[in-house]
Amino acid sequence: MAVERTLSIIKPDATRRNLTGAVNARLEAAGLRIVAQRRIRLTRAQAEGFYAVHRARPFFDGLCAFMTSGPVVVQVLEGENAVARNREVMGATDPAKAAPGTIRKDFAESIEANSAHGSDSADNAAVEIAYFFSGLDIVG
Ligand code: CMP
Repeated sequence: MAVERTLSIIKPDATRRNLTGAVNARLEAAGLRIVAQRRIRLTRAQAEGFYAVHRARPFFDGLCAFMTSGPVVVQVLEGENAVARNREVMGATDPAKAAPGTIRKDFAESIEANSAHGSDSADNAAVEIAYFFSGLDIVG
């Protein structure tokens, strides 16, 4: 299995409830290494750019409003099979459908305020990492 990197975002519902450390503990316990991390407040343009693939979706405006409603923590995770591993630890997008013990099952408030984002493929991970980080920011 290859060592991969993936982009993770701890969302505003989680930072508001002071859950950054709790989420990070879940990631690290799953064998993922946080090799870059920054707490930022997204602008509307930055949120729209990040979620551009969802622009035509009915939830797009609400999603961008939510993602700019408070600080987020953007991070690069590294590990064996990191893209899939992170998605397992996060659980399903809708917390009502997420498996017990996952971040979204235990922490998410709703399908929109679902505490964490993770890249859905290695190709998208490369694009999403480059959206927030330069190579110099990532210390493996
Ligand atoms: P994320 O992994 O960040 O990728 C896109 C986000 O859109 C997703 O998590 C959810 O927060 C949000 N999303 C997806 N489907 C819906 C939906 N039906 N209603 C509201 N938000 C959604």
